[in-house]
Amino acid sequence: MTTWTPASWRTKPVQQVPDYPDAAKLAAVEARLKSYPPLVFAGEARNLTAALAEVSEGKAFLLQGGDCAESFAEFHPDNIRDTFRVLLQMAVVLTFGGSMPVVKVGRIAGQFAKPRSAPTETVDGVELPSYRGDIVNGPDFTADARVPDPERLQQAYLQSAATLNLLRAFAQGGYADLHNVHRWNLGFIDKSPAGEKYKALADRISETLGFMEACGITPDSTPQLRTTDFYTSHEALLLGYEQAMTRVDSTSGDWYDTSAHMLWIGDRTRQLDGAHIEFARGIRNPIGLKCGPSLKADDLLRLIDALNPQNQPGRLTLIGRFGADHAAEHWPKLIRSVAREGRNVVWSCDPMHGNTIKSSSGYKTRPVDRILKEVQTFFAVHRAEGTHPGGVHFEMTGRDVTECIGGAINVTDADLSSRYDTACDPRLNASQVLELGFLIAESLKDRAGAPRFQAAE
Ligand code: PEP
Ligand code: CO
Repeated sequence: MTTWTPASWRTKPVQQVPDYPDAAKLAAVEARLKSYPPLVFAGEARNLTAALAEVSEGKAFLLQGGDCAESFAEFHPDNIRDTFRVLLQMAVVLTFGGSMPVVKVGRIAGQFAKPRSAPTETVDGVELPSYRGDIVNGPDFTADARVPDPERLQQAYLQSAATLNLLRAFAQGGYADLHNVHRWNLGFIDKSPAGEKYKALADRISETLGFMEACGITPDSTPQLRTTDFYTSHEALLLGYEQAMTRVDSTSGDWYDTSAHMLWIGDRTRQLDGAHIEFARGIRNPIGLKCGPSLKADDLLRLIDALNPQNQPGRLTLIGRFGADHAAEHWPKLIRSVAREGRNVVWSCDPMHGNTIKSSSGYKTRPVDRILKEVQTFFAVHRAEGTHPGGVHFEMTGRDVTECIGGAINVTDADLSSRYDTACDPRLNASQVLELGFLIAESLKDRAGAPRFQAAE
Protein backbone atom coordinates (compact mmCIF):
# COMPACT_ATOMS: atom_id res chain seq x y z
CA MET A 1 0.00 0.00 0.00
CA THR A 2 1.07 3.55 -0.66
CA THR A 3 2.01 5.95 2.12
CA TRP A 4 -0.93 7.37 3.98
CA THR A 5 -1.33 11.06 4.75
CA PRO A 6 -4.45 12.96 5.83
CA ALA A 7 -4.63 14.15 2.20
CA SER A 8 -3.83 10.88 0.39
CA TRP A 9 -7.57 10.26 -0.20
CA ARG A 10 -7.40 13.08 -2.74
CA THR A 11 -5.55 10.81 -5.16
CA LYS A 12 -8.39 8.24 -5.15
CA PRO A 13 -11.79 8.15 -6.85
CA VAL A 14 -14.26 9.85 -4.54
CA GLN A 15 -18.06 9.50 -4.35
CA GLN A 16 -20.69 11.91 -3.11
CA VAL A 17 -18.66 15.09 -3.58
CA PRO A 18 -20.52 18.41 -3.50
CA ASP A 19 -20.06 20.66 -6.49
CA TYR A 20 -18.55 23.74 -4.81
CA PRO A 21 -18.60 26.70 -7.21
CA ASP A 22 -15.59 28.33 -5.56
CA ALA A 23 -12.71 25.91 -4.89
CA ALA A 24 -10.44 28.63 -3.49
CA LYS A 25 -13.02 29.60 -0.89
CA LEU A 26 -13.43 25.95 0.13
CA ALA A 27 -9.66 25.59 0.53
CA ALA A 28 -9.56 28.77 2.63
CA VAL A 29 -12.26 27.50 5.02
CA GLU A 30 -10.55 24.10 5.30
CA ALA A 31 -7.26 25.84 6.11
CA ARG A 32 -9.02 27.89 8.80
CA LEU A 33 -10.56 24.76 10.35
CA LYS A 34 -7.15 23.16 10.44
CA SER A 35 -6.04 25.78 12.93
CA TYR A 36 -9.08 25.36 15.20
CA PRO A 37 -8.96 23.29 18.41
CA PRO A 38 -9.64 19.56 18.18
CA LEU A 39 -13.11 18.52 19.36
CA VAL A 40 -12.01 15.26 20.98
CA PHE A 41 -8.74 13.91 22.31
CA ALA A 42 -6.88 10.90 21.01
CA GLY A 43 -6.93 9.36 24.49
CA GLU A 44 -10.73 9.41 24.47
CA ALA A 45 -10.82 7.68 21.10
CA ARG A 46 -8.44 5.05 22.51
CA ASN A 47 -10.74 4.57 25.49
CA LEU A 48 -13.62 3.97 23.09
CA THR A 49 -11.54 1.42 21.17
CA ALA A 50 -10.87 -0.37 24.44
CA ALA A 51 -14.58 -0.31 25.33
CA LEU A 52 -15.43 -1.68 21.88
CA ALA A 53 -12.86 -4.42 22.33
CA GLU A 54 -14.94 -5.53 25.31
CA VAL A 55 -18.01 -5.45 23.06
CA SER A 56 -16.27 -7.66 20.49
CA GLU A 57 -15.70 -10.24 23.22
CA GLY A 58 -19.35 -10.20 24.30
CA LYS A 59 -18.58 -8.45 27.60
CA ALA A 60 -20.38 -5.18 26.78
CA PHE A 61 -23.05 -3.91 24.40
CA LEU A 62 -22.83 -0.99 21.99
CA LEU A 63 -25.68 1.50 21.80
CA GLN A 64 -25.20 3.97 18.95
CA GLY A 65 -27.94 6.40 18.04
CA GLY A 66 -29.09 9.88 17.21
CA ASP A 67 -30.28 12.00 14.33
CA CYS A 68 -30.08 10.89 10.74
CA ALA A 69 -28.87 14.42 10.07
CA GLU A 70 -28.32 17.17 12.60
CA SER A 71 -29.58 20.51 11.38
CA PHE A 72 -28.65 24.14 11.92
CA ALA A 73 -32.33 25.07 12.30
CA GLU A 74 -32.92 22.56 15.11
CA PHE A 75 -29.82 23.53 17.08
CA HIS A 76 -31.24 23.90 20.57
CA PRO A 77 -30.13 22.73 24.02
CA ASP A 78 -33.46 20.95 24.59
CA ASN A 79 -32.89 18.75 21.54
CA ILE A 80 -29.41 17.82 22.70
CA ARG A 81 -30.68 17.07 26.22
CA ASP A 82 -33.59 15.00 24.92
CA THR A 83 -31.37 12.84 22.71
CA PHE A 84 -28.86 12.42 25.53
CA ARG A 85 -31.45 11.41 28.09
CA VAL A 86 -33.29 8.91 25.93
CA LEU A 87 -29.91 7.30 25.22
CA LEU A 88 -29.29 7.21 28.97
CA GLN A 89 -32.69 5.62 29.52
CA MET A 90 -32.02 3.02 26.85
CA ALA A 91 -28.60 2.34 28.34
CA VAL A 92 -30.11 1.77 31.78
CA VAL A 93 -32.71 -0.61 30.35
CA LEU A 94 -30.04 -2.54 28.44
CA THR A 95 -27.56 -2.59 31.32
CA PHE A 96 -30.18 -3.85 33.70
CA GLY A 97 -31.71 -6.33 31.24
CA GLY A 98 -28.47 -7.64 29.84
CA SER A 99 -26.39 -7.42 33.00
CA MET A 100 -23.59 -5.89 31.03
CA PRO A 101 -22.05 -2.46 30.55
CA VAL A 102 -23.41 -0.41 27.67
CA VAL A 103 -21.07 1.67 25.53
CA LYS A 104 -22.96 4.84 24.59
CA VAL A 105 -22.13 6.48 21.27
CA GLY A 106 -24.25 9.33 19.90
CA ARG A 107 -24.81 10.13 16.24
CA ILE A 108 -24.38 13.70 17.33
CA ALA A 109 -22.02 16.69 17.48
CA GLY A 110 -20.94 16.30 13.85
CA GLN A 111 -23.53 14.18 12.01
CA PHE A 112 -24.23 16.70 9.26
CA ALA A 113 -23.16 15.33 5.86
CA LYS A 114 -25.55 13.03 3.98
CA PRO A 115 -24.91 10.66 1.07
CA ARG A 116 -27.65 10.85 -1.55
CA SER A 117 -28.92 8.30 -4.03
CA ALA A 118 -29.03 10.92 -6.83
CA PRO A 119 -27.04 14.14 -7.36
CA THR A 120 -30.17 16.11 -8.29
CA GLU A 121 -33.80 16.19 -7.26
CA THR A 122 -36.75 17.15 -9.48
CA VAL A 123 -39.95 18.69 -8.11
CA ASP A 124 -42.76 19.82 -10.43
CA GLY A 125 -40.39 19.77 -13.38
CA VAL A 126 -37.70 21.84 -11.60
CA GLU A 127 -34.33 20.10 -11.18
CA LEU A 128 -31.96 21.23 -8.42
CA PRO A 129 -28.88 19.73 -6.73
CA SER A 130 -29.85 17.33 -3.93
CA TYR A 131 -29.68 18.45 -0.32
CA ARG A 132 -26.46 16.94 1.12
CA GLY A 133 -26.81 17.92 4.75
CA ASP A 134 -26.44 21.29 6.48
CA ILE A 135 -22.65 21.12 6.37
CA VAL A 136 -22.93 21.35 2.56
CA ASN A 137 -26.10 23.16 1.46
CA GLY A 138 -29.60 24.10 2.63
CA PRO A 139 -32.70 21.87 2.65
CA ASP A 140 -35.07 24.41 1.05
CA PHE A 141 -35.98 23.61 -2.52
CA THR A 142 -34.55 26.80 -4.02
CA ALA A 143 -31.60 27.23 -6.33
CA ASP A 144 -29.86 29.50 -3.80
CA ALA A 145 -30.19 27.13 -0.86
CA ARG A 146 -28.87 24.18 -2.84
CA VAL A 147 -25.55 25.80 -3.80
CA PRO A 148 -22.82 24.21 -1.65
CA ASP A 149 -21.40 26.89 0.65
CA PRO A 150 -17.97 26.34 2.30
CA GLU A 151 -18.88 28.61 5.24
CA ARG A 152 -21.22 25.83 6.33
CA LEU A 153 -18.17 23.76 7.32
CA GLN A 154 -17.30 26.33 9.92
CA GLN A 155 -20.91 26.52 11.14
CA ALA A 156 -20.97 22.72 11.50
CA TYR A 157 -17.71 22.81 13.46
CA LEU A 158 -19.03 25.49 15.83
CA GLN A 159 -22.33 23.68 16.37
CA SER A 160 -20.45 20.42 17.00
CA ALA A 161 -18.20 22.14 19.55
CA ALA A 162 -21.14 23.66 21.44
CA THR A 163 -23.09 20.40 21.32
CA LEU A 164 -20.14 18.42 22.59
CA ASN A 165 -19.59 20.93 25.35
CA LEU A 166 -23.14 20.43 26.62
CA LEU A 167 -22.89 16.65 26.27
CA ARG A 168 -19.70 16.65 28.34
CA ALA A 169 -21.44 18.75 30.98
CA PHE A 170 -24.40 16.36 31.06
CA ALA A 171 -22.18 13.28 31.21
CA GLN A 172 -19.81 14.56 33.87
CA GLY A 173 -21.64 17.33 35.70
CA GLY A 174 -24.29 15.41 37.61
CA TYR A 175 -27.16 15.03 35.13
CA ALA A 176 -26.14 11.46 34.36
CA ASP A 177 -25.98 10.55 38.07
CA LEU A 178 -27.82 7.25 38.43
CA HIS A 179 -29.80 8.84 41.27
CA ASN A 180 -31.56 10.84 38.53
CA VAL A 181 -32.86 7.68 36.88
CA HIS A 182 -36.49 8.78 37.44
CA ARG A 183 -35.92 12.25 36.11
CA TRP A 184 -34.81 10.95 32.72
CA ASN A 185 -38.34 9.83 31.91
CA LEU A 186 -39.36 12.42 29.35
CA GLY A 187 -42.64 14.22 29.91
CA PHE A 188 -44.48 12.77 26.94
CA ILE A 189 -43.42 9.15 27.36
CA ASP A 190 -44.19 9.19 31.05
CA LYS A 191 -47.67 7.90 30.29
CA SER A 192 -46.73 5.49 27.49
CA PRO A 193 -46.48 1.72 28.12
CA ALA A 194 -42.68 1.90 27.72
CA GLY A 195 -42.58 4.88 30.10
CA GLU A 196 -44.58 2.94 32.70
CA LYS A 197 -42.25 -0.02 32.35
CA TYR A 198 -39.28 2.30 32.69
CA LYS A 199 -40.73 3.77 35.88
CA ALA A 200 -40.94 0.31 37.41
CA LEU A 201 -37.32 -0.36 36.47
CA ALA A 202 -36.23 3.02 37.83
CA ASP A 203 -37.94 2.15 41.13
CA ARG A 204 -35.88 -1.01 41.37
CA ILE A 205 -32.69 0.87 40.57
CA SER A 206 -33.45 3.53 43.20
CA GLU A 207 -34.13 0.83 45.74
CA THR A 208 -30.82 -0.85 44.87
CA LEU A 209 -28.97 2.47 45.17
CA GLY A 210 -30.53 2.98 48.61
CA PHE A 211 -29.35 -0.45 49.67
CA MET A 212 -25.87 0.18 48.28
CA GLU A 213 -25.70 3.52 50.07
CA ALA A 214 -26.56 1.80 53.34
CA CYS A 215 -23.59 -0.48 52.64
CA GLY A 216 -21.33 2.54 52.12
CA ILE A 217 -21.26 2.54 48.28
CA THR A 218 -22.06 6.17 47.52
CA PRO A 219 -21.24 8.55 44.66
CA ASP A 220 -18.41 9.85 46.87
CA SER A 221 -16.86 6.43 47.27
CA THR A 222 -17.77 5.28 43.74
CA PRO A 223 -17.71 8.23 41.30
CA GLN A 224 -18.92 5.98 38.46
CA LEU A 225 -22.40 6.35 39.93
CA ARG A 226 -22.31 10.05 39.25
CA THR A 227 -20.88 10.27 35.74
CA THR A 228 -21.02 8.34 32.52
CA ASP A 229 -18.86 7.90 29.44
CA PHE A 230 -20.54 9.25 26.36
CA TYR A 231 -18.90 9.22 22.94
CA THR A 232 -19.68 10.95 19.66
CA SER A 233 -19.72 9.62 16.10
CA HIS A 234 -20.73 10.55 12.58
CA GLU A 235 -20.30 9.40 9.01
CA ALA A 236 -16.90 10.41 7.63
CA LEU A 237 -18.38 11.57 4.34
CA LEU A 238 -17.16 15.09 3.70
CA LEU A 239 -13.48 14.28 3.60
CA GLY A 240 -12.20 17.85 3.28
CA TYR A 241 -13.73 18.59 6.69
CA GLU A 242 -12.42 15.34 8.20
CA GLN A 243 -8.93 16.00 6.84
CA ALA A 244 -8.90 19.47 8.38
CA MET A 245 -9.77 17.94 11.77
CA THR A 246 -7.11 15.21 11.55
CA ARG A 247 -4.12 15.83 13.79
CA VAL A 248 -1.07 13.97 15.11
CA ASP A 249 -1.47 12.81 18.70
CA SER A 250 1.62 13.96 20.56
CA THR A 251 1.51 10.99 22.95
CA SER A 252 1.53 8.20 20.36
CA GLY A 253 2.60 9.99 17.18
CA ASP A 254 -0.50 8.53 15.48
CA TRP A 255 -3.08 10.39 13.42
CA TYR A 256 -6.55 10.90 14.85
CA ASP A 257 -9.57 12.52 13.29
CA THR A 258 -10.49 14.84 16.15
CA SER A 259 -13.97 15.68 14.79
CA ALA A 260 -15.49 12.73 16.73
CA HIS A 261 -14.49 9.70 18.76
CA MET A 262 -15.75 7.22 16.19
CA LEU A 263 -16.20 7.67 12.43
CA TRP A 264 -18.03 5.36 10.09
CA ILE A 265 -17.97 4.78 6.36
CA GLY A 266 -21.37 4.66 4.68
CA ASP A 267 -22.74 1.93 2.47
CA ARG A 268 -22.39 4.11 -0.63
CA THR A 269 -18.74 5.08 -0.10
CA ARG A 270 -17.05 1.85 0.99
CA GLN A 271 -15.24 1.09 -2.32
CA LEU A 272 -11.96 -0.66 -1.50
CA ASP A 273 -9.94 1.61 -3.80
CA GLY A 274 -11.97 4.71 -3.06
CA ALA A 275 -11.18 7.87 -1.16
CA HIS A 276 -13.25 7.11 1.95
CA ILE A 277 -11.55 3.81 2.75
CA GLU A 278 -8.19 5.44 2.03
CA PHE A 279 -8.93 8.17 4.56
CA ALA A 280 -10.30 5.85 7.23
CA ARG A 281 -7.41 3.37 7.10
CA GLY A 282 -4.91 5.96 8.34
CA ILE A 283 -6.73 7.41 11.33
CA ARG A 284 -6.54 5.55 14.62
CA ASN A 285 -10.09 6.28 15.81
CA PRO A 286 -12.45 3.33 16.07
CA ILE A 287 -14.05 2.90 12.64
CA GLY A 288 -17.52 1.74 11.64
CA LEU A 289 -18.31 0.20 8.27
CA LYS A 290 -21.88 0.02 6.99
CA CYS A 291 -22.60 -3.34 5.38
CA GLY A 292 -25.54 -3.36 2.96
CA PRO A 293 -27.02 -6.13 0.80
CA SER A 294 -24.53 -5.60 -2.04
CA LEU A 295 -21.47 -6.39 0.12
CA LYS A 296 -19.90 -9.76 -0.68
CA ALA A 297 -18.05 -11.73 2.00
CA ASP A 298 -14.78 -11.66 0.03
CA ASP A 299 -14.96 -7.91 -0.42
CA LEU A 300 -15.65 -7.51 3.26
CA LEU A 301 -12.47 -9.43 4.11
CA ARG A 302 -10.46 -7.15 1.84
CA LEU A 303 -12.01 -4.11 3.50
CA ILE A 304 -11.10 -5.53 6.89
CA ASP A 305 -7.52 -6.05 5.67
CA ALA A 306 -7.38 -2.40 4.66
CA LEU A 307 -9.05 -0.98 7.75
CA ASN A 308 -7.69 -3.24 10.45
CA PRO A 309 -4.53 -4.95 9.21
CA GLN A 310 -3.36 -5.58 12.77
CA ASN A 311 -6.64 -7.22 13.72
CA GLN A 312 -6.94 -4.97 16.74
CA PRO A 313 -10.09 -5.71 18.76
CA GLY A 314 -12.39 -2.66 18.99
CA ARG A 315 -10.90 -0.98 15.95
CA LEU A 316 -13.65 -2.05 13.54
CA THR A 317 -17.41 -2.20 13.97
CA LEU A 318 -19.40 -3.79 11.14
CA ILE A 319 -22.86 -2.27 10.98
CA GLY A 320 -25.26 -4.45 8.98
CA ARG A 321 -28.30 -2.78 7.37
CA PHE A 322 -30.03 -5.31 5.18
CA GLY A 323 -33.77 -4.87 5.75
CA ALA A 324 -36.00 -7.06 7.91
CA ASP A 325 -36.64 -9.62 5.16
CA HIS A 326 -33.05 -9.93 3.99
CA ALA A 327 -31.09 -9.94 7.23
CA ALA A 328 -31.37 -13.71 7.74
CA GLU A 329 -29.90 -14.30 4.29
CA HIS A 330 -27.00 -11.82 4.46
CA TRP A 331 -25.70 -11.97 8.04
CA PRO A 332 -24.55 -15.62 8.16
CA LYS A 333 -22.35 -15.31 5.04
CA LEU A 334 -20.49 -12.34 6.45
CA ILE A 335 -20.28 -13.67 9.98
CA ARG A 336 -18.96 -17.06 8.87
CA SER A 337 -16.17 -15.72 6.67
CA VAL A 338 -15.08 -13.22 9.31
CA ALA A 339 -15.09 -15.96 11.97
CA ARG A 340 -13.27 -18.39 9.68
CA GLU A 341 -10.50 -15.84 9.10
CA GLY A 342 -10.28 -15.08 12.80
CA ARG A 343 -10.95 -11.36 12.43
CA ASN A 344 -11.88 -9.38 15.52
CA VAL A 345 -14.89 -7.18 14.86
CA VAL A 346 -17.87 -5.74 16.65
CA TRP A 347 -21.12 -6.84 14.99
CA SER A 348 -23.79 -4.16 15.11
CA CYS A 349 -27.27 -3.95 13.64
CA ASP A 350 -28.68 -0.86 11.94
CA PRO A 351 -32.34 -1.81 11.51
CA MET A 352 -33.21 1.57 9.99
CA HIS A 353 -31.64 1.96 6.56
CA GLY A 354 -32.91 -1.28 5.02
CA ASN A 355 -36.47 -0.66 6.13
CA THR A 356 -37.36 2.68 4.58
CA ILE A 357 -40.62 2.73 2.63
CA LYS A 358 -42.92 5.35 1.12
CA SER A 359 -46.24 5.50 2.98
CA SER A 360 -49.47 5.75 1.03
CA SER A 361 -49.66 9.42 1.98
CA GLY A 362 -46.24 9.91 0.36
CA TYR A 363 -43.96 10.21 3.42
CA LYS A 364 -40.67 8.38 3.71
CA THR A 365 -41.23 6.24 6.81
CA ARG A 366 -40.12 3.07 8.60
CA PRO A 367 -42.48 0.62 10.28
CA VAL A 368 -41.48 -0.09 13.89
CA ASP A 369 -42.39 -3.77 13.47
CA ARG A 370 -39.90 -4.10 10.57
CA ILE A 371 -37.21 -2.42 12.66
CA LEU A 372 -37.90 -4.81 15.51
CA LYS A 373 -37.89 -7.80 13.17
CA GLU A 374 -34.44 -6.93 11.84
CA VAL A 375 -33.08 -6.60 15.38
CA GLN A 376 -34.59 -9.94 16.38
CA THR A 377 -33.12 -11.60 13.31
CA PHE A 378 -29.73 -10.16 14.23
CA PHE A 379 -29.91 -11.76 17.68
CA ALA A 380 -31.23 -15.05 16.31
CA VAL A 381 -28.44 -15.31 13.72
CA HIS A 382 -25.73 -14.66 16.28
CA ARG A 383 -27.24 -17.18 18.63
CA ALA A 384 -27.19 -19.76 15.82
CA GLU A 385 -23.63 -18.89 14.78
CA GLY A 386 -22.25 -18.75 18.32
CA THR A 387 -21.02 -15.17 17.81
CA HIS A 388 -21.70 -11.99 19.79
CA PRO A 389 -24.50 -9.62 18.83
CA GLY A 390 -22.46 -6.56 19.75
CA GLY A 391 -24.76 -3.62 19.38
CA VAL A 392 -27.45 -1.60 17.68
CA HIS A 393 -27.38 1.56 15.60
CA PHE A 394 -30.55 3.68 15.54
CA GLU A 395 -31.80 6.86 13.98
CA MET A 396 -33.75 8.36 16.83
CA THR A 397 -34.62 11.49 18.69
CA GLY A 398 -35.68 12.22 22.24
CA ARG A 399 -38.61 14.22 20.92
CA ASP A 400 -42.20 13.25 20.26
CA VAL A 401 -41.97 13.16 16.46
CA THR A 402 -44.23 11.19 14.12
CA GLU A 403 -41.84 9.83 11.51
CA CYS A 404 -41.84 6.02 11.94
CA ILE A 405 -45.20 4.25 11.85
CA GLY A 406 -46.30 1.81 14.56
CA GLY A 407 -45.29 1.44 18.18
CA ALA A 408 -47.37 1.06 21.33
CA ILE A 409 -48.70 4.60 20.94
CA ASN A 410 -49.52 3.82 17.36
CA VAL A 411 -48.23 6.37 14.85
CA THR A 412 -50.39 5.90 11.74
CA ASP A 413 -49.89 7.02 8.19
CA ALA A 414 -52.38 9.83 8.87
CA ASP A 415 -50.29 10.99 11.86
CA LEU A 416 -47.06 11.34 9.91
CA SER A 417 -47.76 14.90 8.78
CA SER A 418 -48.28 16.23 12.32
CA ARG A 419 -44.66 16.19 13.58
CA TYR A 420 -42.50 15.03 10.69
CA ASP A 421 -39.44 17.13 11.52
CA THR A 422 -36.43 15.17 10.29
CA ALA A 423 -33.89 16.84 8.04
CA CYS A 424 -33.39 13.52 6.27
CA ASP A 425 -34.54 9.99 7.22
CA PRO A 426 -37.44 9.12 9.58
CA ARG A 427 -36.36 8.65 13.22
CA LEU A 428 -37.77 6.64 16.07
CA ASN A 429 -39.34 8.84 18.73
CA ALA A 430 -38.45 8.47 22.39
CA SER A 431 -41.26 6.10 23.28
CA GLN A 432 -40.65 3.88 20.23
CA VAL A 433 -36.95 3.67 20.98
CA LEU A 434 -37.54 2.84 24.62
CA GLU A 435 -39.95 0.10 23.62
CA LEU A 436 -37.25 -1.36 21.42
CA GLY A 437 -34.84 -1.04 24.34
CA PHE A 438 -37.01 -3.31 26.48
CA LEU A 439 -37.29 -5.86 23.68
CA ILE A 440 -33.54 -5.84 23.09
CA ALA A 441 -32.98 -6.27 26.82
CA GLU A 442 -35.03 -9.47 26.60
CA SER A 443 -32.85 -10.75 23.77
CA LEU A 444 -29.72 -9.85 25.72
CA LYS A 445 -31.01 -11.83 28.66
CA ASP A 446 -31.49 -14.85 26.42
CA ARG A 447 -28.19 -14.74 24.61
CA ALA A 448 -26.30 -17.97 24.71
CA GLY A 449 -23.11 -18.36 26.66
CA ALA A 450 -22.92 -14.71 27.56
CA PRO A 451 -20.95 -13.78 30.63
CA ARG A 452 -22.89 -12.30 33.54
CA PHE A 453 -21.93 -10.03 36.34
CA GLN A 454 -21.26 -12.24 39.28
CA ALA A 455 -21.18 -11.46 42.92
CA ALA A 456 -17.61 -11.26 44.19
CA GLU A 457 -16.47 -14.53 45.68
C1 PEP B 1 -26.85 6.77 7.62
O1 PEP B 1 -26.44 6.07 8.56
O2 PEP B 1 -27.41 7.87 7.79
C2 PEP B 1 -26.71 6.25 6.24
C3 PEP B 1 -26.81 7.04 5.18
O3 PEP B 1 -26.53 4.93 6.21
P1 PEP B 1 -26.08 3.95 5.04
O4 PEP B 1 -24.72 4.41 4.61
O5 PEP B 1 -26.06 2.62 5.73
O6 PEP B 1 -27.11 4.04 3.95
CO1 CO C 1 -30.13 7.97 7.61
